Amino acid sequence: MSGHVVTDITSGILTLRFNRADKKNALTTAMYAEAATAFKAAETDNNVRVVVITGSGDSFSAGNDLGDFMENPPTDNDAPVFRFMHALASFPKPVIAAVNGIAVGIGTTVLLHCDFAYAVPTAKFQLPFVNLALVPEFASSLLLARHLGTRKATELLMLAEKFDAETAASFGLINAVVPADQLEAIVQEKAKVLAAKPPAALRATKALLKADGNEVAGRIGLEAKIFGERLQSGELREAITAFFEKRAPDFSKF
Ligand code: COA
Repeated sequence: MSGHVVTDITSGILTLRFNRADKKNALTTAMYAEAATAFKAAETDNNVRVVVITGSGDSFSAGNDLGDFMENPPTDNDAPVFRFMHALASFPKPVIAAVNGIAVGIGTTVLLHCDFAYAVPTAKFQLPFVNLALVPEFASSLLLARHLGTRKATELLMLAEKFDAETAASFGLINAVVPADQLEAIVQEKAKVLAAKPPAALRATKALLKADGNEVAGRIGLEAKIFGERLQSGELREAITAFFEKRAPDFSKF
């Protein structure tokens, strides 16, 4: 175990915390594997009625760990990142995201697969895939356009600018912006309410709301195929080298 994903089950609520604050909770292969295993186990564990996902320090998650990502690129559907995506996208019980800060890349797209999301006023969101010479993942190319309209989805995925918590709430990406010192209490309260509801009826309600599961799984797969091709590109090497050299990338030669 990496120690970078911490789980706890109390009163029917599984809390899964990304615990790598010094790296803004950037997600490594090991973290994806641990999170995927936790979701799979929670699926059939009657002690888990609701899942809360959150981060640590000033971040929810800064997305894929770019260094790990270059060393261990996901090559097939069995890669931990895809196991995590499919486990969450098809997870039958309610999931609440407590966005305690920075939410970049998959830190933002994960919210499209949570049933509820609450964020602190200082949370910052971004979908920087194109800046990294990548393409959208986690069915965000489908779900953002569906939820926000193509115009807004295009802006978020092609201009890839940061946006704040109020903007995320206005998009419907999160339910509400809540004071930082109340985030945990508010999320725990929602989780307790959900944990007390009839579990089969909740699961059936979620299944109806997510009846497009096959389309979502198909889009995760299509995006993954193109994402995999992009991983071989010189553009990507330049983007990631520039990130670690703390300089702006130069795409003029491509
Ligand atoms: N992968 C690997 N390391 C990351 C990371 C990532 N996605 N995001 C942050 N880190 C590391 C930084 O390299 C830095 O490490 P160091 O202290 O050893 O130099 C540390 O986390 C702190 O990050 P820093 O950039 O100094 O913090 P910041 O507050 O100035 O900026 C972010 C925070 C999230 C805006 C910035 O780190 C960032 O843009 N990260 C990349 C996000 C990204 O592109 N994710 C999508 C991947 S598909």
